[in-house]
Amino acid sequence: MGKSLSFKPMKVLENYSLKKHNTFAVDVNAKYFAEVSSTNDIIKLLSDFKEIPKLIIGEGSDILFTKDFEGLVIQDRLKGIEVIDQTANNVLLKSSSGEIWHEFVEFCVNNNYCGVENLSLIPGTVGASPIQNIGAYGAELKDVFYSLEAIDLKTFEKKIFTARDCEFDYRWSTFKGKFKNKYFIISVTFKLSKKDCFNIDYLGIKEALGENHKNLSAKKISDAIIKIRKQKLPDVKKLGNAGSFFKNPIIPKAKFEKLKKKFPDLKFYKHGNKIKIPAAQLIDFCGWKEKRIKNTGVYKNQALVIVNYGNASGKDIYDFSKKIQASVKEKFDVEIIPEVNVF
Ligand code: EPU
Repeated sequence: MGKSLSFKPMKVLENYSLKKHNTFAVDVNAKYFAEVSSTNDIIKLLSDFKEIPKLIIGEGSDILFTKDFEGLVIQDRLKGIEVIDQTANNVLLKSSSGEIWHEFVEFCVNNNYCGVENLSLIPGTVGASPIQNIGAYGAELKDVFYSLEAIDLKTFEKKIFTARDCEFDYRWSTFKGKFKNKYFIISVTFKLSKKDCFNIDYLGIKEALGENHKNLSAKKISDAIIKIRKQKLPDVKKLGNAGSFFKNPIIPKAKFEKLKKKFPDLKFYKHGNKIKIPAAQLIDFCGWKEKRIKNTGVYKNQALVIVNYGNASGKDIYDFSKKIQASVKEKFDVEIIPEVNVF
């Protein structure tokens, strides 16, 4: 994987189907659609389409379109990974935003750079990863994040954001808050370890490692994570979905104590001075596992995942999610909020 070099000229397509550009495989149109593979492409597009709403997408793996997008969808194809600095212990790796996240993880694992192996097989691009601070199996993007570079959509200026600027939290950064739709992230720099820094405490990893438990390597952990994910989560190529549809709710301790009296089996995690409850468990308790309405359903192995069995529309999926939300609210008095971006 080298630096980005030559690119085909950029084309702007009109009334273009986004079916292949969202992992729910929902068939909606974008008024305009273009793929960008350089910062020049981005700046040209931004200046040609100044007053038009814009949506930047990577793999479309965290999006639910409920209607046509009456603006310009920009597909990020910026490629390239480079080592920008290193010491005996650490390496600073800069990845262009359009790199596929899992391919970036593979690059790290194959070079024995430790820190992202628990985040193996997460769908999406590198550029999308800091926006919601992707996390899985006891690791979060913020643990390896160093900085990112983004283009201001209005002024076209480049700006560097540090971890502090991003205000990372569970499934959150300031790019979901005050900087939402204000920047095009063009690269992310990660600080990874050249020494072992393994983290195999999350439930199920040790079992999945089996004999590989001895003489650990980033590759062995990555393989174990891939195995777990393949068991739990549907393959988007076979069954449209966007991973966890909802975030795990975080509630005050006092509220949790009350809930625990009524539902003593509830699993939970500490989150600062609050409590995080697995939404999958709440959805499961409400009896949604494997339920299906027309072409939309809850996945059999993970209640947090809503799937498109066929030609479900975005509206069908959204209405289905609202039903789940309402029944969790009714049974537990807990709000579950979509993790997926709904348009
Ligand atoms: N559980 C159920 N029913 C289910 C699935 C899970 O009761 O159908 C219970 C399990 O018993 C377990 C708990 O819920 O104790 C947690 O389950 P799991 O380890 O699968 O994690 P999760 O909280 O449901 C989160 C992330 C996933 C990530 C996993 C593993 C969110 C919203 N989701 O799910 O991320 O892979 O942890 O770390 O935080 C994603 O974001 O798309 C995603 C898949």
